[in-house]
Amino acid sequence: VTLDDGADLASVLHATRPEAAERMLGGTEETTTGLLRLRALHEEGRLRCPILAVNEARTERVFNDRFGTGQSTLDGILRATNLLLAGRTFVVLGYGNTGRGVAQRARGAGASVVVCEIDPVAALEARMEGFEVLPALRAAERGDVFVTVTGGRGVLRREHFERMKDGAVLANAGHFDVELDLDALRGLATGGVRRVRPLVEQYDLGGRRLNLLAGGRVVNLAAAEGHPAAVMDVSFAVHALAAEELVVHPRELGPGVHPVPARLDREVARLKLASLGVEIDELTAEQERYLTSWG
Ligand SMILES: NC(=O)c1ccc[n+]([C@@H]2O[C@H](COP(=O)([O-])OP(=O)(O)OC[C@H]3O[C@@H](n4cnc5c(N)ncnc54)[C@H](O)[C@@H]3O)[C@@H](O)[C@H]2O)c1
Repeated sequence: VTLDDGADLASVLHATRPEAAERMLGGTEETTTGLLRLRALHEEGRLRCPILAVNEARTERVFNDRFGTGQSTLDGILRATNLLLAGRTFVVLGYGNTGRGVAQRARGAGASVVVCEIDPVAALEARMEGFEVLPALRAAERGDVFVTVTGGRGVLRREHFERMKDGAVLANAGHFDVELDLDALRGLATGGVRRVRPLVEQYDLGGRRLNLLAGGRVVNLAAAEGHPAAVMDVSFAVHALAAEELVVHPRELGPGVHPVPARLDREVARLKLASLGVEIDELTAEQERYLTSWG
């Protein structure tokens, strides 16, 4: 069984029909937020079957999150606004797998990219990649475009909106529409809200206007077409092989969230390379011995 959202698996199946969950051979999970929920369910001792964490497969982290979300998030912002990104300050909140991709693509489009983080390692990585790193309150004053991609809630809120420049654009690429505190934004819009383009709502904060894209929903899905097929083929291949693994080796794994076996990852990457006509090297027997012996 493959479900695309942990919330569905957790709430619909485990909450309403735990006996059915018990009979499942397992599931595969695509999203970061879905895995968070499934792990929470497991901590509570309520997860009844194994879940293979497709979201954490190597192929998924690199291709889906970095290249898929990176490109399609920019695509959504551009389709919704037709902005020229070159010369703008583009703020990425959350420099995880997806945030990295968004930051790289924004830089590629000529924007000055600012990263906001709460994790020192991720922040250091962003800095060493050459991005400016700032606390969100300071970035709020500087940004022309803001993208939240943390998986958390209320990442941009009242105190940030109050500091933003006239004309700033707000978008979310993280799971769900809670990363931007929309209640706070509505509360500040003393001059009203009007739709200025099909996917752009303009909030008038008494003279300063903030432009919200796609109602704060996931912008690459709401304003563009999501990940390109050439990324999803890799994801779906990992799902298919992971599902096969659960069927071919039933009940080998207990309830819990488990990694996708690395050999499946390698197999999918090998097939993708073949489809691209790319060949690679193999270890010689001597290299293999050297890398696997202890002395
Ligand atoms: N739009 C899409 O197509 C798409 C694709 C993949 C993932 N996602 C979603 O994007 C979100 C992030 O996924 P990920 O895989 O990059 O997660 P991740 O855990 O790799 O990265 C999230 C990063 O955000 C940082 N962070 C958390 N709270 C923060 C805050 N308040 N301010 C600044 N930084 C903060 C964390 O330190 C972390 O580095 C999730 O909700 C995920 O479901 C969306």
